[in-house]
Amino acid sequence: MSLPPAGPTRTALVTGASSGIGAEIASQLASRGYGVTLVARRIDRLEALAGRLAESHGIRAEVVAADLTDEEARTAVISEIDRRGLVVNMLVNNAGFSTAGPVARAQVAGELAMVRTDVEAVVHLCTALLPGMVERRSGAILNVASTAAFQPVPGQAGYGASKAFVLSYTHALRAELAGSGVSVTALCPGPVATGFASAAGLSDTDAAAALPSFLWVPAERVASAAVEGLETGRAVVIPGAGNKLSAAAGWLTPRTLLLPVLAKRHPAMHP
Ligand SMILES: NC(=O)c1ccc[n+]([C@@H]2O[C@H](COP(=O)([O-])OP(=O)(O)OC[C@H]3O[C@@H](n4cnc5c(N)ncnc54)[C@H](OP(=O)(O)O)[C@@H]3O)[C@@H](O)[C@H]2O)c1
Repeated sequence: MSLPPAGPTRTALVTGASSGIGAEIASQLASRGYGVTLVARRIDRLEALAGRLAESHGIRAEVVAADLTDEEARTAVISEIDRRGLVVNMLVNNAGFSTAGPVARAQVAGELAMVRTDVEAVVHLCTALLPGMVERRSGAILNVASTAAFQPVPGQAGYGASKAFVLSYTHALRAELAGSGVSVTALCPGPVATGFASAAGLSDTDAAAALPSFLWVPAERVASAAVEGLETGRAVVIPGAGNKLSAAAGWLTPRTLLLPVLAKRHPAMHP
């Protein structure tokens, strides 16, 4: 399996490209000659990145600002790409965030916004863009899950369940699309130093204390593992040997043993 061919009217739609892993994935695709369409809310950051990528790599870098929590905004992104005469031949569903703390102390609006962004937007964009890829017999989808997908996460219950959804959904899509010319990969990073912890309301100190240093992988390495995994048609990419082990342990350890330990260790469970 290889990535779909680049072309002047072809684009890789990367959500959550204003920061962290998404910005790095967009950069790696641009460096391989792919045109990119960058989507997130912070338009200033998207425009700055698009300018850098277009200049360094001579590719077409588009910006569409959108709040992906909102269904109408997601539909508008797809229409806008179409209006610009572009065809999405790669989709990177990366935008996402987590709340932190026990559900009993959470705000309903925040929990729902997380599920709409982390789950509903993935389903929306895959469902809307897959038919064109299947018809052209060419396309690639990278859905960003997490090692949080491999076991429930007390203290981030909705987030862990959202990422478990993304992993399960991606596996099923992949099986549906076998032989179609469209490849589907799930990226499951462990901890990465990005805007993620602060968006969740966790301090960098708390995040670093909760997860041992050998699990942390830089965003640039996560992105290169992701793009290589997509290129070689991998089902799941887990960057870093420590994270592969932790994912296997999370998957296999009986819940009755694992979950009390996780609940006790999570910094947001003990404010
Ligand atoms: N960092 C980690 O430890 C880690 C580990 C495993 C998985 N992940 C996953 O990796 C993905 C990227 O996260 P990151 O670590 O790179 O964090 P980040 O630096 O905070 O980036 C998150 C990106 O998502 C975008 N985003 C969030 N809410 C959005 C919304 N409502 N509409 C549009 N865009 C939205 C943000 O853009 P705007 O704020 O500009 O909208 C930003 O570009 C997420 O799916 C996350 O769950 C992260």
